[in-house]
Amino acid sequence: MRKIVIAGNWKMYKTQAETQEFLQGFLPHLEETPLGREVILCPPFTDLSILSKSLHGSLIQLGAQNVHWQEYGAYTGEISAPMLTEIGVRFVIVGHSERRQFFCETDATVNLRLKAAQRYGLTPILCVGETKQQRDAQETESLIITQLEKGLVDVDQNNLIIAYEPIWAIGTGDTCEAAEANRIIGLIRSQLSNPNVSIQYGGSVKPNNIDEIMTQPEIDGALVGGASLEAESFARIVNFKSV
Ligand code: 13P
Repeated sequence: MRKIVIAGNWKMYKTQAETQEFLQGFLPHLEETPLGREVILCPPFTDLSILSKSLHGSLIQLGAQNVHWQEYGAYTGEISAPMLTEIGVRFVIVGHSERRQFFCETDATVNLRLKAAQRYGLTPILCVGETKQQRDAQETESLIITQLEKGLVDVDQNNLIIAYEPIWAIGTGDTCEAAEANRIIGLIRSQLSNPNVSIQYGGSVKPNNIDEIMTQPEIDGALVGGASLEAESFARIVNFKSV
């Protein structure tokens, strides 16, 4: 059975004080969340422990935005899986396009990070997706197949979430048409050995388009950036209306 997973990627937003303010507005809405939906928050590292302490008994699970492949070592600026699991983190985003674009992550380092996450019991959320130029050049399918082939070497597909995030749709308000996102997510699924991997869509997901996105048969959830920063809008996304 594929799970429905709605995750908020806060990127480099929110201090601890802002995190607490968010929770006050957000937590009451979870009383209306239908059973069976996984809700994950992926804040900056500095907010993880405060969230971990405040979330007991709530539906929200904790995710980080990256993880290094070594347990410890001289890797300035990185964080390891045991450091994350110690404070209650269960999920981690790996290979986000902003990591690939601004911090030179490659399919090879993405693969190392995925395997390290799984070694320590974290569930990685692997991000794949094409640029506008790649889409215009009809390279979307081949690029995504390559990202999966290289990224998923020796990765356990029983403990994995994938997010299809077309880069041109991230932070632009230019959402991928729901039917097209469904088609690409179907293609991703066809490349997997486990048909039960949950595959999310990400890229300008908002309260006004989440219901349509979630009507698509291949789409199992959303990875939400900007709209996850505000309690009311993320609550509307988490509590999307299914038909
Ligand atoms: P936006 O929802 O702001 O477009 O960001 C999407 C994203 O990058 C989530 O990881």
